[in-house]
Amino acid sequence: MTIYLLIAAGYFLGSIPFGVLITRAFGAGDLRQIGSGNIGATNVLRTGRKGLAATTLILDGAKGAVAVLLARHFVPELGDDGAMIAGAAAMIGHCYPVWLRFKGGKGVATLLGLSLALAWPIGLVFAAVWLAIVLLLRISSLGGMLGAVAAPVAALAFGHPTYAVGLAGLAVIVLWRHRENIARLRAGTEPRVGDKKDAE
Ligand code: G3P
Repeated sequence: MTIYLLIAAGYFLGSIPFGVLITRAFGAGDLRQIGSGNIGATNVLRTGRKGLAATTLILDGAKGAVAVLLARHFVPELGDDGAMIAGAAAMIGHCYPVWLRFKGGKGVATLLGLSLALAWPIGLVFAAVWLAIVLLLRISSLGGMLGAVAAPVAALAFGHPTYAVGLAGLAVIVLWRHRENIARLRAGTEPRVGDKKDAE
């Protein structure tokens, strides 16, 4: 497999909009017309279907993890670079899918999945930060952003400089994709997990 094929495989894998497909398949409506309009698990949760939200979280995470594993299996000679590039391609696919006119998700679950596959301790730090914020403040977006920022720091601390650089770039994308959430957080109007009121 060449590097170009690896990037294409990662992108198309990441571009599968599981949240949209699952909510539609199980009669929970058009996710892009619900809550924040985002295609991720947090917004699926706003349909009231916890099982569908959990499934979306797992499948969106799996996209990132599988992309990394594909790189390790088919182009082992590319080492850490190949794994990071494949994971990044999946994340770009999730955030900018051709199928949804490049209007995709915010990248948290896919980034978590690829972080776990790159090196599980990095993913563990990411998940712990996300979970801690969600449990303490019930704000998924803030947890996702802080988890994404913690991942490159953890990568550096655990001795993975290539991953640290790649994950730092992906954390910037996560923050950019959350700019509306950031505005709501600043205004104090960001919805909390479990709230009846939907995001704007
Ligand atoms: O993973 C997405 C999450 O961080 C924010 O989702 O729907 O509240 O904008 P949402």
